[in-house]
Amino acid sequence: MKGVILAGGLGTRLYPLTKITNKHLLPVYDRPMIYYPIQTLVNAGIEDIMVVTGGKKSGDFLSLLGNGKDFGLKHLNYTYQEGEGGIAQALGLAEHWAQGDSIAVVLGDNLIENNIAGAVKDFKASGKGAKIMLKEVEDPERFGVAYMDGDKVDRIVEKPANPESNKAVIGIYMYDGRVWDIIKNLKPSDRGELEITDVNNWYIEDGTMTADVLDGWWTDAGTFDSLLSASQLVSDTGTNKMG
Ligand code: G1P
Repeated sequence: MKGVILAGGLGTRLYPLTKITNKHLLPVYDRPMIYYPIQTLVNAGIEDIMVVTGGKKSGDFLSLLGNGKDFGLKHLNYTYQEGEGGIAQALGLAEHWAQGDSIAVVLGDNLIENNIAGAVKDFKASGKGAKIMLKEVEDPERFGVAYMDGDKVDRIVEKPANPESNKAVIGIYMYDGRVWDIIKNLKPSDRGELEITDVNNWYIEDGTMTADVLDGWWTDAGTFDSLLSASQLVSDTGTNKMG
């Protein structure tokens, strides 16, 4: 299984912090933001990793991360996203590299307290489909929200104005080798982007989506408030703890 970190985008919600640098290079407590999702993959035993980046400062990722020595890696792969085509479009750029293998995807601004080793093991054992991870939050309207039918996810609604559930879909996804064709058939959303939520809804309709509830805290760091609370959480309790 390979891992992809999505670290492109313009980060406009953090303007002017992101006027001269990429969001994922900003500090979260004692490390640049991008360190956390890389560690999430490494802790789950995934060491073949591609970083999808973009923008004027994309070269800084190479200066910062090199071949991934800080994470015990021998090599890191990079690719470049032009403009803001959305998360699913960014993921599609990894197709030639993944070569049909299954993948774990982590959004570059998502941090977790514990680790996803168990979920990755489960997904590998199932051999097919997709897996998402859920977390109950107080502000579901900021996220993709899972609408449930009993224990099963019935559908995911991206940033609903009036959420019918408080279960956010966090930015960690696992997909089988069909994901590349699914991405190619997506239509841009109202905001002109290829949405990862549409990929996830495809797998739900296919009946091959599983969902785990994440234990420990989770936060994104893409707004002023979440960036601040991410630093606070890392400082208070640590992150990427092994089970
Ligand atoms: C993205 C996804 C959303 C997900 C969130 C997690 O939103 O579209 O479904 O819940 O990441 O961080 P974004 O914050 O990039 O708009």
